[in-house]
Amino acid sequence: VVRQEKYRPSYHFSPKNGWMNDPNGMVYFEGRYHLFYQHHPFGTTWGPMHWGHAVSTDLVNWEEQPIALEPDGLGTIFSGSAVVDERDTSGFFEGKPGLVAIYTHHYSLPNTDQIRQYQSLAYSTDSGESWIKYAGNPVLEDEHCIDFRDPKVFWHEPTEQWVMVLACGQTVRIYHSPNLKEWVFASEFGHGIGSHDGVWECPDLFPLWVDGERSQVKWVMLVSIGDNPEIREGSRTQYFTGEFDGTTFVADVESEKVRWLDYGRDNYAGVCWSGIPAEDGRRLFMGWMSNWRYANQTPTERWRGAMSIPRELALETRKGTVALIQRPVRELDGLRTPVLSLTEPSSEEVQNALSALQLDCYELVAEFATAGDFGFKVRVSDEHEQETLVGYTSATQEVYVDRTRSGCSDFHEDFAGRHGASLGILPDRMDIRLYVDRSSIEVFFNRGQVVITDLIFPNREAKGLEICSAEEQVTLFSLELYALK
Ligand code: FRU
Repeated sequence: VVRQEKYRPSYHFSPKNGWMNDPNGMVYFEGRYHLFYQHHPFGTTWGPMHWGHAVSTDLVNWEEQPIALEPDGLGTIFSGSAVVDERDTSGFFEGKPGLVAIYTHHYSLPNTDQIRQYQSLAYSTDSGESWIKYAGNPVLEDEHCIDFRDPKVFWHEPTEQWVMVLACGQTVRIYHSPNLKEWVFASEFGHGIGSHDGVWECPDLFPLWVDGERSQVKWVMLVSIGDNPEIREGSRTQYFTGEFDGTTFVADVESEKVRWLDYGRDNYAGVCWSGIPAEDGRRLFMGWMSNWRYANQTPTERWRGAMSIPRELALETRKGTVALIQRPVRELDGLRTPVLSLTEPSSEEVQNALSALQLDCYELVAEFATAGDFGFKVRVSDEHEQETLVGYTSATQEVYVDRTRSGCSDFHEDFAGRHGASLGILPDRMDIRLYVDRSSIEVFFNRGQVVITDLIFPNREAKGLEICSAEEQVTLFSLELYALK
């Protein structure tokens, strides 16, 4: 068992047993966050999909629940969303609020290689404990669209109706409904814009204030793009900013060039929670920490797949354009045990302090001058045959994670490598916030402007941490380190 748990994350959600991919149906209701997920309980590779289920009161400590949705005569259960039907528009709840899940049924026609995908409903009258599939399923079909899946539904207050975004081939379709049961086509987005490197999946659409100004709202569309044998990066997620009037999404000019949510390889199919109370007001996101390129081959046993840490999304003006910013949720601070806190330390001081440590699960926050190259080596083994590099190159204003020698990587030829992004002209100082776990690293650069999420598979004993800044002129303003339980 110990050997099988070698890569088990300590503070990321992973299923006890079996396979997991996309987060599904993320909804907050009656004091609990629900996380459902694409799950194959009988194997550690992708198979007939179920919805697994976990609940949490703080987004950080999760308790796995019995499986919520199992395959039936209409098919297996693909990705989808869940909403709080506050006004019982569906009529499932005798006038009270209740939870409705909207998901894709995936059906393989017997004795052919043909498939059908259509949208269905399930509801819960006991706060998510048990689920009843709607007798009128499916509620939305289109025989002309083969890849027709991953409904994300939200209530659009100004037009007082439900809105669904749905992936259809390489576009996103928008539908309307008064009651979640009857859906009418409204518009289609995606022709001639964005990346079309693969089939479009798992869309989301939501408003955010720009720079925290309540008078300035923009809409964000997330679209994940499936694996394509010709694209080395594999599956990844793009985003658009724009305007939405309840019917049509119109992208900003900035969104005419492709914009990535994450510059690592392992943040896919992520969407946001629904049902977050207005007094909280946050837009909370979680992604699947893997990549279809190699997801079925990662070297875990008994279980496979983990979620990213929960993140808060924001829109901020950076370099004159409105950009999507990600920050770890504050609830994660509850896991902290302070290890180090240094102010304007010399390189030598940092080196000495770090060399005394052995850590595998931690958060590191550093602020440094952007005049010189700067970085850390994490999960370093005794002889340095394993190490993962995180850093910043001043000449190119590039940040990166290099997992070339991060540990086990021979399960797929595209796993090892260096993943970088250019930040453009920067202020004199910049921060790096780094979350390391047993099999992942998530790095937030320059207050969440660029994020790199990467899986790594180091040995359990590879627990060294080093600073790399050969040049004398590098200035570290502060460094904080917390062990995370
Ligand atoms: C995205 C995805 C979805 C689909 C699900 C199947 O990773 O391919 O489009 O609903 O996974 O498990």
